[in-house]
Amino acid sequence: MRRLRRATALILSLGGALPMSARAADPDAGQAVFKTQCGICHSPSQGKNMVGPSLFGIIGRKSGSIEGFHYSAANKASDITWNADILDKYLTSPREVVPGTIMTYAGLKDDAKRADLIAWLETLH
Ligand code: HEC
Repeated sequence: MRRLRRATALILSLGGALPMSARAADPDAGQAVFKTQCGICHSPSQGKNMVGPSLFGIIGRKSGSIEGFHYSAANKASDITWNADILDKYLTSPREVVPGTIMTYAGLKDDAKRADLIAWLETLH
């Protein structure tokens, strides 16, 4: 009986945790994340490069492909086509995905914020 109660408690606590990880990404919240984390170096507008290249149309774009932006050799040679999966890894830790990148950003470790941000990046086209 005691064991059963403990098992029930475990299932209940797991059930409580599930909706968190399965929550849908929120592009509006992602825009706010962009403003605080990326906007100092990146513009979402087409053709507007800042310290970093424009992120307009980033989904489906090849790494290092913005004409006239001075990328690192590492970024150019990385041969990545940016999609949600690789962006998730890159934005967690840019230097692990592109060693030698000149993007001096340590990474966004919060899974939910990263998912929101990527959902918003997907709207930039
Ligand atoms: C301190 C400035 C800075 C910040 C903050 C920053 N970036 Fe960057 N980002 C750069 C630079 C510089 C590059 C070019 C990297 C290279 O050539 O190695 C870059 C490259 C990129 C690329 C590759 C683009 C391409 O055309 O290949 C992506 C994607 C990107 N950044 C997304 C982001 C996102 C999303 C954020 C916010 C979470 C962010 N960056 C924060 C400076 C920054």
